[in-house]
Amino acid sequence: MMNKNLDRNKLPKHVAIIMDGNGRWAAKNGLQRISGHDSGVKSVQEIVEEALDLNIPYLTLYAFSTDNWNRPQHEIGVLMNLLVKYLKSEFNKLIKNNIRLNTIGNISALPKLVQDEVKRVSEKTKNNEKMVLTIALSYGAREEIEDVVKKIALEVKNNTISIENVDQSIINRHLYTRNLPDVDLLIRTSGEQRLSNFLLWQIAYAELYFTKIYWPDFGKKDLHEALLNYQNRERRFGKTSEQINV
Ligand code: FPP
Repeated sequence: MMNKNLDRNKLPKHVAIIMDGNGRWAAKNGLQRISGHDSGVKSVQEIVEEALDLNIPYLTLYAFSTDNWNRPQHEIGVLMNLLVKYLKSEFNKLIKNNIRLNTIGNISALPKLVQDEVKRVSEKTKNNEKMVLTIALSYGAREEIEDVVKKIALEVKNNTISIENVDQSIINRHLYTRNLPDVDLLIRTSGEQRLSNFLLWQIAYAELYFTKIYWPDFGKKDLHEALLNYQNRERRFGKTSEQINV
């Protein structure tokens, strides 16, 4: 189902999504929060498929933040199990569709079972090149930046780089996202209009799109709407409109 107004030649390269509203979706439907996450996985499947169909090469999903460790143990356990279940059940699809699984965040903080599955699927898909599916797990942008500063400081201390050479490209090369381009379009569902510590460095020039739809209700047509909205914006990167439209 292709929106006829969508220009396939003007799609963002990197779409990042804050998948929010699973709990409220469940409450609205008289269900337990857990069912909201279950249904959220279905949206993940649908959006990955659609991004692939549209040839969007980089899709990044915020699945678990460093702050999410403060949720009830039971809910954390359910989310971890869902991740393992997702990676196991989607594995063949990732292979068949030439998708590379990538993760960002403090993977070593995850339960061993999740770490093992992430490592296995990342390793087996590492040469796939149609799309990079990045899942942010135990991710926090400030923690990421803290890590970058520590790594660079150590290199300066060891004389592998000099302070004068520390620039944006060095910083980029130390980020968890070192293999990804900057985000072009950031989508957040559920009506909240905040960034919640997601990819703060990488969204410097991203277009931001907020929708009231809860994540489990977010489907192909909603992605199309976000993309259409993106295509109708003028990205100026600090220049004037006249300079862009020469
Ligand atoms: C936000 O909704 C959602 C999460 C914290 C988890 C997102 C996880 C999934 C969609 C499933 C697993 C992911 C993958 C990639 C297979 P919320 O619980 O904060 O909702 P609320 O704000 O309405 O309570």
